[in-house]
This record gives sequence, C-alpha cells and structure tokens, in this order.
Amino acid sequence: MGTRFPRREDNRIELSLRTRYDGRPPVKFPQSFIDDVRAAADIVTVVSDYVSLRKAGTSYKGLCPFHGEKTPSFHVHRDRGFFHCFGCGVGGDVFKFLELQEKVGFTDALRQLAQRFGIPIPELEQGEGVRETAAEREALLTIHEVAAAWFREQLASPAGARVLEYLRRERGLTDATIAALGLGWAPPGRDLLRQRLVAQGFTPAMIVRSGLVTRRDDGSEVDRFRNRLMVPIARDSGSVIAFGGRALEKDQVPKYLNSPETPIYTKSRTLYGLNLTKADLRKAGFALIVEGYFDFAQVFQAGGFPVVATCGTALTPQQAQLLRRFAPKAVISFDPDAAGQGAAERSSELLVTEGFDVNVALVPDGLDPDTFIQRHGREAYQRLLRQSRPYLEFLLDRAAAAHDLSRDDQRREFLRRMLTVAARIPDPAVRDQFADRISHKARVTEDVVRAEIRKAAAARRTELPVQRAAQLTTTLRASEKELLWSLVHEPETLSGALSELEAVDLEGLRSRDILLALGEVLEEGAADIPRAVLGRLTDQDAQFLTAVAAQAPPPTRGPHYCVTDLRIQRLKRERSRLQDEIARRQGVGGEEEALTGLLVRKHELSRRIAELEASLVGLK
Ligand code: UTP
Ligand code: MN
Repeated sequence: MGTRFPRREDNRIELSLRTRYDGRPPVKFPQSFIDDVRAAADIVTVVSDYVSLRKAGTSYKGLCPFHGEKTPSFHVHRDRGFFHCFGCGVGGDVFKFLELQEKVGFTDALRQLAQRFGIPIPELEQGEGVRETAAEREALLTIHEVAAAWFREQLASPAGARVLEYLRRERGLTDATIAALGLGWAPPGRDLLRQRLVAQGFTPAMIVRSGLVTRRDDGSEVDRFRNRLMVPIARDSGSVIAFGGRALEKDQVPKYLNSPETPIYTKSRTLYGLNLTKADLRKAGFALIVEGYFDFAQVFQAGGFPVVATCGTALTPQQAQLLRRFAPKAVISFDPDAAGQGAAERSSELLVTEGFDVNVALVPDGLDPDTFIQRHGREAYQRLLRQSRPYLEFLLDRAAAAHDLSRDDQRREFLRRMLTVAARIPDPAVRDQFADRISHKARVTEDVVRAEIRKAAAARRTELPVQRAAQLTTTLRASEKELLWSLVHEPETLSGALSELEAVDLEGLRSRDILLALGEVLEEGAADIPRAVLGRLTDQDAQFLTAVAAQAPPPTRGPHYCVTDLRIQRLKRERSRLQDEIARRQGVGGEEEALTGLLVRKHELSRRIAELEASLVGLK
C-alpha cells in the first residue's frame, strides 16, 4: 500500500524540480545573502514607495496597486513580512511585491532591494552580462548628467543670451524656474557636445548609444540636438535620462525633437516633471496632468500644483502605475473644443480603467494651461481646478448632447458607447452609480443597464480572482487552515506536531506543498520560519498562504489536534480505497488469499483510526 504514495524523500526531489521550473528561477546568490536582504528590506517601507499605507490594527492598509479599487483591501503585515489583497487575491513577500510591481524577475527584485537597503551584492555571483549592463547604464546616466550641465552652461554663455531672453520674455519664465527645470541650450555647432563627451573619456560607441549623438550613413557622427532649447527629462529620482529639444527658428522641424529610447529611457514609463512635484502629488492626493513641457513649466512656476506632463501623447498603463505610487486621483486639464479627438480623453479613459478618480478641468477659449496662466494668473487657474468635475459625468453630458435621445437608433448608439466605458470601471459601486446616470439620461430602467454593464464587465475579465480565492479557501480542511494560519503567526508552536506528519499524510491536500516546505524549514532550523517558507513556494501557494494568514484567526484546537486530524483523514482515504479494492475482488472470486490480506489490512486501519480518534478527545 505504502508504495502508492511517494515517500518523503521523493517529495523533496519533486519539490526542488517544481521550484526550478515553475516557481522562482534557480538563484545563483547564496541563501545567506537572500536572507540578509529579506531581513533588511522592511516590507512596509518598500510597499510605501508605491502605495499610501495607513496603520490598521497590527497591519497596514491601502489601495491595491494590482487592481483598481476604491476601498482599501490591500494589507501589509510588517512583522510577518508579507502582503495580501482581499480584493484580487494577490500576495507574497517583499520580493514578490517588487516582482509584481516592477515587472521584474526574482533576481532583479533581490538586487534592487539589496541596493536600497545597503546589503553588499556578492561580487562573484555577478555574471559578465549583468556587470556590463550595469556599467553601461551607469555610463549613460553620467553622459546625460554631463550633457545637461553643458547645455545649461551654453544657455548661460553670451551666445545663449538670445535664448535666455526668449524664455524670460516670450515664455514668461523666471530665472528660478529655468534653474529648477534645468533648462539649457544646444548651440548650432555640428558636434560640439560629442567633442565634449569624447574629451571626458566616453567611448564613441557609448556616446552614440546615449542617443545624444547620431551616426549618419556616411559614418560621421553629429549631435542630435543643434540650436534647440533643451528640456532635461528625469526619472522621479531626479537622474536625467533624456531630453526634449524645442525648435528656436520658424523653419525648424519638428517643433520638438526628443531623445530616442535607450537602456535608461523608456518613454512610456516616464512622466515629465514628476521628480520636481512628487511631494506635491502626495500632499494634494491627486495629480494634475497637462500635456506639454511649457504647460508644466508655467503651472509649476505658479507654485504648489501637483503637476506632471505627458509630453503630447496619451497616458500609458505604466505611467498610470507610476502615478499611483503618488496619488489615487487625477485631474486632467482639458481643452473642451479639442476633447474627443485628443490624447486627454484617451488618458482619462485609461485612468478610469486603472481605477483612478478622474476629474477634468476645462480650460476655456482653446487655451493651454501655459497661456491661460500667463493671461489670467494663478488664481484663475486654481478656480478652474476647483470647478473640475468627474470625467464620467463630463463624458455622459457630452455624449448625451451629441445624440438625439428621443430617437431609438441614436439612443442605442449612446448606450453602446457609454456601456463600453462603464464596463471598464473596476469598482462595482462606481460602475453601478454610472449605470444609474446612464439609465436616467437614456430613460431606460436602471436594472437593465446595470445588468448589461455587468455582462460587459464580466466578459472583459478573464478571471474573477476574488471568487477564485474564496473557492480555494473553502476546499481547505479546518485543520489545514489552522496549521497554515499558525505557520505565519505562531510558527514556534508547530515544530513538535509537524514532525508527526509524513508526506503521505498530505497526499491530495490543498496545503500539501506548503506544509512540506514548512517541514523542510523546521528541519533546517531557519530563524524566520514564515519568510523562509514563503521563499520556497510557488507564486500560487505563496498567495494562498498569505490569503489564509490575512484572515481572522481560525478557532484553535492546537497543532497536535490538527496533525492528528490530517493523519486520520489520510487513513480514512486509504481505508476507502482498500474497501473499493475488496469489493472489486469479491466480485471476481477465487482470490481468497489476497482478499484475506486486504481485510486484515482494513481491520488494522480501522483500529488505528479509532485509536487516533480517541486521542483527539484528549487534545480538544
Ligand atoms: P504642443 O504642440 O502643445 O507644444 O505639444 P507646447 O508644449 O504647447 O509647446 P509650445 O508652447 O508651443 O512651446 C505638447 C507636447 O507634445 C510634445 C511635447 O512634449 C510638447 O510639450 N511634442 C509636441 C513633441 O514631442 N513633438 C512635437 O513635435 C510636438
Ligand atoms: Mn503651448
């Protein structure tokens, strides 16, 4: 009978294979390094870079960065080192968080955390490739730093006086703003910047890779930006990673020439000006989104506005995620006439999809924020922002005005358009509210609209994580649940009881791999048991464990009770399999000897079960 089940040793092998192929990749770093980073990287500190957390009892709470929501169901447990979202079921340790948030692998997450928390990264383990990329990025950042300084020098030089006057007079910027933005000037020479960079010791290849110099077909290398006003673009940390260069002459095209993407610059992940205003975003609780460099400059100069610029294109999901680190709401400066064709509308819809509260601030007379503030001043702009209203309402009114809702075909078209938007709203409460507004406008019953929206919303989603998590939890035996909960919250109570469990006892259980990992961790005597276990699990199991641990403590009957219960269940499973076998052989006949053996075995099992059940009484 025993051969039916893998032995504990076999499980080990299987576990390590599983870990290699579908769990975390084989890590070439020594375990001690990983443990050091895990111990140093405070999960609340790390998550707080992306999510505003509030203390709630023993844990911290915030809006889940992995799905759109309006009421916080994202929990972080500092002392236990894990996070869990009740809304979408995602959970794990600090590494997992960074992996999901930054869309990087385990090794990158480990590296980032090591750097951030000052744990030296073991030299030996760094592959050639990795070292090269790191060195390249370092060089590219330095090139941008040098270039930005050089552009500023040029603007301050006598030759730059004309450009400086343009900024002061025509663009209405003060010297303080010019300095804060780090504006500069690329003079008209053919390769002046290149010469400077070569003189500083950068290799020609690296200079070309920076995007600041282009190699022509004839092999010559020239500065990309010539006679342009230079706007440095930075990461939110402040490092310059690219430039936008504005034309200074009438016949100069394009109006803005921008850096190409490089190993340090991804346009879709960058928001212009965030490095200067991120504290304002946190403070205000919203982001004011404008389109252009000069809109940013003017609003920034007006003082205290939580402004960022998209640089003329519609917002990307990555930019929305970046924003979410700082604020859950957005106000978009809209030109009401151009709206509908504009990037502003696409950005608004994306933000709604990403779960942001989005308001639109309509700027009148076809003005952009830059010109509006120059003409009407800060207070008037502040008023526009105060009068901003929810994008969904704005959209609804505009669509209603554009359709003749007394005509059936027009009303259907209106509904179709609105339902598409509504289906993307992640928060069900907000969705229903919008549905009611739609039904009011179109004079259709609310229930019908709500039902339509729910259908459309369900079709959009591939899975319903909340339901799935709930379902998984119900298939868990009470004893498993208690053991898993204790594993995270009071692991020191488990070691004695766990040693009674054998791998075969766990066959077919939802918690099998988690408890096996716990067994290994206990045997090895790891200091921080929950973290060590989490570190060995597949993503799914880690999520599952944190989901159970984040719930209220189950009624406790003690680890010995739970372990005994699981052993009884296993013996009962074995007994019913035996019973099936006996029934089958009885039907065949002529197998008395074998049958007798099976019956003896069944009898033994029943006795064993009765014994264990009797012992439970004492344990309860
Ligand atoms: P705008 O044409 O509105 O420019 O483009 P602007 O910012 O108002 O500039 P001024 O006031 O005429 O000087 C908005 C943004 O779109 C991007 C730039 O980021 C610009 O700030 N853009 C525009 C480009 O990248 N390339 C272009 O050729 C034009
Ligand atoms: Mn403008």
